[in-house]
Amino acid sequence: MKKFIKPIFALTLLLFISCSSDAESDLFEPEETGEEVVEETPITYNDDIRPIINNNCLACHSDPPTNGAPFGLVNYDQVRLRAENGQLLNAMSRQAGDPRIMPPSGRLSQATLDLIEAWIQDGLLEE
Ligand code: HEC
Repeated sequence: MKKFIKPIFALTLLLFISCSSDAESDLFEPEETGEEVVEETPITYNDDIRPIINNNCLACHSDPPTNGAPFGLVNYDQVRLRAENGQLLNAMSRQAGDPRIMPPSGRLSQATLDLIEAWIQDGLLEE
């Protein structure tokens, strides 16, 4: 009886090794392609953020600022500064009806706010 145990054990081990390496490659591939899609389209100030600021903020945050706005948001450095210190997203994320929401005409779409948040998380790329 003892004679049979060793070969059976060896066979089981072989089966286990070949199965587990298959399972590993199955798990890897979809994950890698998923990440590549995201990295191909980095969010940049020039392509994605500047148009949002130009359309919604420059009526007041121009250079020099008008209508009582405290600073300009006309170029990358000015926008990055406010993105880094949290003011930009904070002002735009206030509840609808809060008189301090930016722009004062009303909260922009959640998709727009998500885009700005993703830009900040991607490292505030200029171009
Ligand atoms: C109609 C004019 C107007 C527009 C358009 C406008 N702002 Fe403002 N903004 C103001 C004024 C006035 C203040 C000063 C408010 C205060 O100090 O209470 C201000 C203050 C701010 C502040 C600093 C105070 C705070 O709440 O943190 C930020 C940041 C800001 N705006 C961002 C923006 C952004 C981003 C946009 C575009 C999405 C925008 N604003 C559009 C007039 C405007």
